[in-house]
Amino acid sequence: MPPHPGDTLELAIDTLAYGGQGIGRVDGFVVFVRGALPGDVARVEVTRRKSGYAEARLVELVVPSPQRVAFRCDHAPDAGGCEWQTFDYAAQLAFKHRQVVEALAHIGGLDHVVVTPILGMADPWRYRNKMEYSFGQTDGETVLGMHRRGSWRDIVDVPDCHLAPLEISRARQAVLTACRALRLPAYSQTAHTGLLRHLVVRRGAATGELLLNLFVTERFRQEAALAERVAAQQPYTSFAVTVNETQADAAVGVGPFMVVGPPCFHEELAGVRLRVPAAAFLQTNSEMCAVLYETALRAAAPQADRGAYDLYCGIGGMSLLLARRAAHVYGLEIQDEAIAAAAENARLDGAANLEFAAGDVRKLLLDPPTGRDPAIARLVQADGKPHQSLRAPASHPFAPPAVVLTDPPRAGMARKAVERMALLGAERIVYVSCNPATLAANAAQLATIGYRLDSVTPVDMFPHTHHIEAVATFLREA
Ligand SMILES: C[S@@+](CC[C@H](N)C(=O)[O-])C[C@H]1O[C@@H](n2cnc3c(N)ncnc32)[C@H](O)[C@@H]1O
Repeated sequence: MPPHPGDTLELAIDTLAYGGQGIGRVDGFVVFVRGALPGDVARVEVTRRKSGYAEARLVELVVPSPQRVAFRCDHAPDAGGCEWQTFDYAAQLAFKHRQVVEALAHIGGLDHVVVTPILGMADPWRYRNKMEYSFGQTDGETVLGMHRRGSWRDIVDVPDCHLAPLEISRARQAVLTACRALRLPAYSQTAHTGLLRHLVVRRGAATGELLLNLFVTERFRQEAALAERVAAQQPYTSFAVTVNETQADAAVGVGPFMVVGPPCFHEELAGVRLRVPAAAFLQTNSEMCAVLYETALRAAAPQADRGAYDLYCGIGGMSLLLARRAAHVYGLEIQDEAIAAAAENARLDGAANLEFAAGDVRKLLLDPPTGRDPAIARLVQADGKPHQSLRAPASHPFAPPAVVLTDPPRAGMARKAVERMALLGAERIVYVSCNPATLAANAAQLATIGYRLDSVTPVDMFPHTHHIEAVATFLREA
């Protein structure tokens, strides 16, 4: 009999689902349990039942898994951020590797792909270059931390998250202390009153530059005083305010309005220096981002006399690395600000063989750039100035690139974008993925249009979370 909501069960957890929940079975019926690990025997309470599975809450560990380790910090049981803190790191890596193999087989129907061992961190702590904290109110006092696991309302004060470098934790504490001293009110998600919503702290691991971005409901007169008080406790390079007037509980809004310093910070990755605008994407683990870039570059094998594409290029880190070994690189990316930063990064690097276009990859690849009818709608030269004409420069007549590198968001690539990418005619496609499920779906599609998945290398960008990054190499069938 499948279990019902309210039932209490004793379950042996045998594996993990993608997303990190433990899986146990009652007479073959699957039960997902958040917080349970393979090897646990747990008492659980069923909270929901669907036609093919049930969800349950972990009540008590009857026999803890041999793969369990002690909590590293006091907040982990409550804060939402790192659900696998108690999962032995070697076991995490083995599990992530298996998830890639299984996603390719089950979703992509690709059984015999070489998936090399996952590249992990020697020290998998304090690796994040970006932390996003939420303000809240507990017992009349302003707090600053993470959402309580499973709650959209309660905020757990997190003085020191062990995924963040100490400088970021100190910046959080300095902002909180200064906000309390100035009696600035936290925003209430239920009443929609108050000022303080989120704090995003970003830090260049190589440069030490620190950018603090405070998300508020409106500009306020104590901004300069706040920035000054924070600096007295934790030096930083930039302090910004961003205004979020909407009801959306996210660190988004109008800005950044700079109170101190430039609207960016700098990072160095795999030998390239990058200017990172306050809101632009950068992989959150700088150390492993360098490993990811080097792995992708090796897989791409750019050729000195051939072109390359970097799709979803962000601020151009991989474009710059490709440009050192390719004749010419086209970087495509939807965010205007990121493209402007990519062009400036190319200029700072002294590279003249890159061009960037802002827009949706699917649309920019509408027609393969033949030279006569270029797809690139708005090229930005390495000096940052947009081309006057909508046409690609005559000096770069189209020839199939040797390689297309693609690094889409979690949702993967739209079918049309995959087809148009294939039409570019490259010998190799290197696909950097942060979601094995969408990688597998896109791989299956590529297989039907002439690209064979040759190998996959998972890279652990996100220790102690269930997230998986991987570099996949596709070769064009002869
Ligand atoms: C996973 S990030 C990769 C960024 C970059 N390759 C890097 O290494 O930092 C995905 C990027 O795709 C961009 N993006 C999202 N949807 C897009 C679309 N439809 N067309 C072009 N770029 C898109 C995002 O702005 C983001 O910069």
